[in-house]
Amino acid sequence: MNKIKIAVLISGRGSHLQNLIEACRKPYYPAEIALVMSDRADAPGLQYARDAGIPIITVSPYPGRAAFGAILHTTICEKNIDLVVLAGFMRILDADFVDLWDRRILNIHPSLLPAYPGLHPQQRALDAYETVSGCTVHWVVPEVDAGPILAQADVPIYPLDTENTLSDRILKVEHQLYPTVIMTVANEILHGNL
Ligand code: GRF
Repeated sequence: MNKIKIAVLISGRGSHLQNLIEACRKPYYPAEIALVMSDRADAPGLQYARDAGIPIITVSPYPGRAAFGAILHTTICEKNIDLVVLAGFMRILDADFVDLWDRRILNIHPSLLPAYPGLHPQQRALDAYETVSGCTVHWVVPEVDAGPILAQADVPIYPLDTENTLSDRILKVEHQLYPTVIMTVANEILHGNL
């Protein structure tokens, strides 16, 4: 089966990476993870890539936005990457890099964008006494968490929620949503529609 090549960028625990590795194991899944990149050599999630035998590139210490963008650009060109997937990647990507890779970089964010872009969206939703939160998959543009939205899923907020309980509930839904959207995008790329 024809599969697109994806690069997954992580900075931390890598639960999305682990989840995507599982999804890509399915024979019918139209994507393979050809590369994992991180701005942190000590990101715990890198272990999932090591265990799965996926090539890893760490750019650490972080060389700055422009230099990281240049390295990322060269690397994904060399490896014929079709799609970049941000998964808990905690850096803002260089605007020139993002413009070059328009509609080729995906992100998932734990809020119903455009509400609560940026850091600690779950706590900010709690502070505002929201009753519903959720997650959003969107194309990456130079402005943080602002690109065209591909999919969203609602998650209820309960009265006794803390940042941790709400984050965990949203993350479970993220783990359903992200592989589903990536599958759709991968099929569109394979069919030449993107
Ligand atoms: C998720 O909440 C995701 O929405 C955000 O970072 C978290 C991912 O963490 N961008 P992990 O490293 O994949 O576990």
